Amino acid sequence: MSLHIFRTKSITSNEDTADSLKRCLSKWDLAFLGIGAIIGTGIFVLTGIAAATQSGPAVILSFVIAGFACAFAALAYAELSAAVGGCGSAYGYSYVAFGEIFAFMIGWDLLLEYSLSVATVANGWSGYFNNALTAIGIPLPEMLTKAPKLGGLINLPAAAIILLLMLLLIIGVKHSAKVNNAMVFVKLLTITVFIAVALFNIHPENWHPFLPFGWFQVLPDGKTTGVLAGASLVFFAYVGFDAVSTAAEEAQDPQHDLPFGIVTSLSFCTVIYILVAGLLTGVVNYTDLNVSSPVAHALNLLGYNWAAALISTGVIAGLTTVMLVLYYGLTRIIFAMSRDGLLWPFFSKVNSTTQTPVRVIMLSGITMAIIAGLIPLGDLAELVNIGTLAAFVLVCLGVLVLRITQPDMKRPFRSPFSPLFPVLGMLSCTALMAFLPALTWLRFVIWLVMGLCVYFSYSVHHSKLA
Ligand code: ALA
Repeated sequence: MSLHIFRTKSITSNEDTADSLKRCLSKWDLAFLGIGAIIGTGIFVLTGIAAATQSGPAVILSFVIAGFACAFAALAYAELSAAVGGCGSAYGYSYVAFGEIFAFMIGWDLLLEYSLSVATVANGWSGYFNNALTAIGIPLPEMLTKAPKLGGLINLPAAAIILLLMLLLIIGVKHSAKVNNAMVFVKLLTITVFIAVALFNIHPENWHPFLPFGWFQVLPDGKTTGVLAGASLVFFAYVGFDAVSTAAEEAQDPQHDLPFGIVTSLSFCTVIYILVAGLLTGVVNYTDLNVSSPVAHALNLLGYNWAAALISTGVIAGLTTVMLVLYYGLTRIIFAMSRDGLLWPFFSKVNSTTQTPVRVIMLSGITMAIIAGLIPLGDLAELVNIGTLAAFVLVCLGVLVLRITQPDMKRPFRSPFSPLFPVLGMLSCTALMAFLPALTWLRFVIWLVMGLCVYFSYSVHHSKLA
């Protein structure tokens, strides 16, 4: 059993992949892969920010709402991953369902999602890393741990961890399913410790008022608040279940195991998130949670310094794998688009010494390090979410379109209650997009316009499939 997620060979060409990857992943490996990519900064950091600034103790409802939107999208993903297969990303499905320009735009959108996800998780990693340094008496100066917008100079640990991962990817890290499973175990252990300690320290008065910010309102500065805005933010916690579909070529029985992996990992994480969110706001007042490492902070406030240290260590390890998987996913998508002629061939060159796509890894790594160092976590997460939600809307639409245009396509897994569920997926994801601030929309639209410029000035003339 060895899922070489970071095997260069799998992204160098279509021919290379056809016979070279062993179908060695069981359905449980896939579920663990999903859990490994899903649980990260969302639950360990954003829960605190959302509770303190948008949802209050009702952050638990924010998780339920975001979880529903994801469940509909996950069923659509499961149907397409079983039916279409291929490289397994929304980019690949869009090619089949809508044609090239949509595929390009969704690929362009995924570049935003994956690159900013890495930067966001790096920010979360930095929060817990600083917490650990402070605990052992060598805190970094605040100037070096915060983005300029938050009063600092640069978030140095966030930038540094990305550069470190860049080096690892360049030399070609072999990342096995066993390592992933071990990391998932560490993360789950971390969460279990928190749940065990928190269960005995609940102060129900912390859950009152339950809805201090109401359901939804737009503030004078254009920011949004309330449970629904909180749902749009904590949605980030669910990002990553789509990573399961990228293992299509290594699944023992992809048509049955991929849907199982996607649905199981998402359901499991939803239950964990609801539990943790409920407990976190039950043990300390929600107003205390607007910090960079809220779970550890809550335990410190309760006087469990050993548990806080244990959790920080587990989170630091756990978030590292989330970043690696997302970073790798990013290079894979850029590679696929470049290979198809939609991006410059510069991006699909493999270095002959390291046998890794050094240019793509370096360029994206340096860009993400700068972003992670200079932009605060909340802004990044909102931009990731709008991009991911847009991709989910198109995946749900893809299910509907393919059911009409290719009714006889073999569908080993069918999203139940179609067209109701895909339509609900589109509506709920669009609604979550609507609850995001106007500035996030503006940034997203600018990114899409840039994409259209690239498509019409370059891709349309160089597309190999066209
Ligand atoms: N869902 C992943 C996280 O929360 C990206 O870090």
